[in-house]
Amino acid sequence: MLEVNQLEVSYGTIKALHGVSLKVPEKSIVTLIGANGAGKSTTLRAISGLIRAGGGQVKYDGKEITNQSPHAVVSKGLCHVPEGRMVFANLTVEENLRMGAYLRRDKAGIKEDVDYAFTMFPRLKERISQLAGTLSGGEQQMLAIARALMSKPKCLMLDEPSLGIAPMLVRAIFDQIVKINKERGLTILLVEQNANLALAISHYGYVLETGKVILEDSAAALRQNPQVREAYLGD
Ligand SMILES: Nc1ncnc2c1ncn2[C@@H]1O[C@H](COP(=O)(O)OP(=O)(O)O)[C@@H](O)[C@H]1O
Ligand SMILES: [Mg+2]
Repeated sequence: MLEVNQLEVSYGTIKALHGVSLKVPEKSIVTLIGANGAGKSTTLRAISGLIRAGGGQVKYDGKEITNQSPHAVVSKGLCHVPEGRMVFANLTVEENLRMGAYLRRDKAGIKEDVDYAFTMFPRLKERISQLAGTLSGGEQQMLAIARALMSKPKCLMLDEPSLGIAPMLVRAIFDQIVKINKERGLTILLVEQNANLALAISHYGYVLETGKVILEDSAAALRQNPQVREAYLGD
């Protein structure tokens, strides 16, 4: 469904991605793991059109979308939840969710999806009128994911959803990621520094090191791989 071929990205004169290739098949959860600075966020930003790819190709649903505008990418059903959550701090939880549906006109469907978001994350329902900026980090991450789902994406890209979040909320978020994948057939590209967590819920994984994919395999095989265990799983 999503296919990246030989993607290259530079920041000024510094090359961050040296020909990254990966595939995310429909209805699967694929993870991209790697240390801080490996190029994980850069990969997602280039796919979403937030930064320019200097080389290579991004294909979605069989069509090339390389260097299209972020707006065009979202409207095709590919939605990116960036690192650091980025909710609208001065809007309430409910207003944030409705902002996520800005491209939609189906009022009944929007209402249904707001309700679905609240079943996914009951903590958000309890805080429906609270300003997003006053939520805890974990709650903001829940809101960012729920807001992304309001655009009815077919493919969701999540950038480090566990970063800086209390373990109990991480658990709740990862359980829901698995659930939307199973129940709604949502395709997921999950970027994580926490390889343990990511490989536990993914079908397939890629290991990124200094802008290159150095390993790829089923998530189960990566968890057994001695190189991965030593470098990323804390063995
Ligand atoms: N806006 C930027 N300007 C310059 N260099 C950047 C910028 N963003 C990221 N980089 C560099 O690109 C490389 C990859 O960064 P990033 O994609 O954020 O890694 P990751 O998400 O895996 O931690 C790093 O060397 C980082 O310093
Ligand atoms: Mg990052």
